[in-house]
Amino acid sequence: MKLTHHLIALALCLVIPTGSLMAKRYKLTSPDGHNVVCVDIKGGRAYYSVWRDGKTVLAPSRLGLIAQGGYDLSENFRVAGVETASVDSVWHQVWGENKDIRENYRELSLHLRARRADLTLRFRAFADGIGFRYEVAAQGTDSLFITRELTEFCLSEDARAWSIPADANTYELLYRDLPVSKTQTANTPITMRTPSGVYLSIHEAALYDYPEMTLERTDSLRLEARLAPWPDGLLAREPARFNTPWRTVQLADRAVGLINSSLILNLNPACALEDTSWIRPKKYVGVWWGMHVGIWSWVMGDRHGATTERAMEYIDFAARNGIDAILAEGWNKGWEGWGGNQEFSFTEAQADFDLQKVCQYGKEKGVMFIGHHETGGNIPSYERQMDAGMKLLQDMGSHDLKTGYAGGFKGGFSHHGQYGVRHYQRVVEVAAKHRLTIDAHEPIKDTGIRRTWPNMMTREGARGMEWNGWSAGNPPSHHVMLPFTRLLSGPMDYTPGTFDLLLESSKHSPDFKRWNDQDKGNARANTTLCKQLANWVILYSPLQMASDMIENYEAHPCFQFFRDFDPDCEHSEALDGEPGEFIVVVREAKGRFFLGASTNEESRNLTVKLDFLKPGQTYRAIIYADAPDADWQTNPQAYKITEQQVQATDSLNIHLAPGGGQAITFVPVVRM
Ligand code: NOJ
Ligand code: CA
Repeated sequence: MKLTHHLIALALCLVIPTGSLMAKRYKLTSPDGHNVVCVDIKGGRAYYSVWRDGKTVLAPSRLGLIAQGGYDLSENFRVAGVETASVDSVWHQVWGENKDIRENYRELSLHLRARRADLTLRFRAFADGIGFRYEVAAQGTDSLFITRELTEFCLSEDARAWSIPADANTYELLYRDLPVSKTQTANTPITMRTPSGVYLSIHEAALYDYPEMTLERTDSLRLEARLAPWPDGLLAREPARFNTPWRTVQLADRAVGLINSSLILNLNPACALEDTSWIRPKKYVGVWWGMHVGIWSWVMGDRHGATTERAMEYIDFAARNGIDAILAEGWNKGWEGWGGNQEFSFTEAQADFDLQKVCQYGKEKGVMFIGHHETGGNIPSYERQMDAGMKLLQDMGSHDLKTGYAGGFKGGFSHHGQYGVRHYQRVVEVAAKHRLTIDAHEPIKDTGIRRTWPNMMTREGARGMEWNGWSAGNPPSHHVMLPFTRLLSGPMDYTPGTFDLLLESSKHSPDFKRWNDQDKGNARANTTLCKQLANWVILYSPLQMASDMIENYEAHPCFQFFRDFDPDCEHSEALDGEPGEFIVVVREAKGRFFLGASTNEESRNLTVKLDFLKPGQTYRAIIYADAPDADWQTNPQAYKITEQQVQATDSLNIHLAPGGGQAITFVPVVRM
């Protein structure tokens, strides 16, 4: 569907007499009429509630902020004015699950007077959910030190909820399936299904210069915002006038509706970069898995992974297989101290890695070098060097940089507090200056800033493939949980593609050395082979890695799926699924379609209608399916590749083994 650009902005000013402490209700309805927000000013306090199709989703929930010095924006509110507006437009992004996005909402701005400050509560209602933020203007000061945010999300019924616990330093945790009444703390996105059948997910959008929000249950069904503090206990240091991030509630009738929503992106400002021509989705391979499975090292020595020769071998493999780029972790100096008081250099290569030669070779072969800056969490050291380190990459012709923060921040700062948020943003902006995109590991959570900073390509921010290299690994349900939780915030560099699922080639290698405390000898990828292929489609990332060592791909028939796969899609749709159970996703890229379906521990048979294909067009469907006797535990490598011709009027029966998946490439048949 192509919509023409159309923008209406009507401002309707309705001034209510100040001084009135009578209860007042203001109502906002989404353009499609399904979602309703009511804002109540009652006894001088502000509350909001949310309905979908007449059913209460959030009961009256408190709003407000408190800052030091008597700046109390939580009570004694007087209504000074109210404005409404509405927008219906289409914007275009350089890359994304969908390149054209409709932004269609109604807005309500409630101007309140509080003690020594004005506060605007700005609400937006969309067909796929609601967002609101605080806009503060304090008098008689030039800065505000926030000590409390009172925002509540009070569920009207005990919903089933999928989340990870709140943690100011890591998101690499396993998901829980718990009722809200048993969820003590949660990071966002937290996804829920109410007994009345509404799916919702609470998160935030446009997180800048403010700590991340997590949730704590303070009463039976009341979740309250918690902000990761500075070491001195303050939550946020702000100027006298500032806006908080948007607090968001995505709403849908089906679980996949949350995935197909653009609410988070729509609550972010337009692109800040004038020239985006250098930003391009890519497929990559790299010197990476060998370290995680313990046969190579990041440090220099006999087992060093990132040698000039190996990087050139990876470039040759990439060139032969139509892969855009390579990564080589451990290319730089400083790895000896990783995990301690590390000081990495971002400008000096290790003696056996010739950066110039590798980049030049890549240029000749049409393969780009992806830089790697593991900081170990040493922010002051990285901030001193990042400009020079990024300039070096720019001079080498590179356009992409993976960063890492595996380690605690010095000085008691947490990863997810305002200090961290500021740092991660500085990196994005300095990178943009050097025409580099960012793939951040151990990042701050995604809140849709890619709309404004499209060089913020992808990030980790959940348990990725690495956990399968040196721990009991990610359970089969994890990959069908991520799309309904973590990925609602934005793309994830999960790095799918382990073909040697049982890690046979590394476990029996004379070079193997246990390097991680969590390695109990039972590491493996807990899926079937076809689920690894399906994850390239399902776990959306504009930089998509085939993460295994290249010898495990050479001559493997299933690697054809990655050769054909195009990470630069124009349109995506999650067709079916339930959190932690199964999912089916399709993406369209330059006339081809890629479908990924996968399941948790349970085997499943699904019927998928192909009505996403162009009507009247015949396609060659290349199907990579679990073999009938495949099973992630007992027979994970068994697969079957078949081909058939299909049209939009057809359906396909998809069999998924326990812990299995299926990947399909649809190529248009050109009739001569
Ligand atoms: C953790 C990252 O998630 C992983 O991808 C990387 O290999 C290591 N840190 C080392 O930087
Ligand atoms: Ca990590």
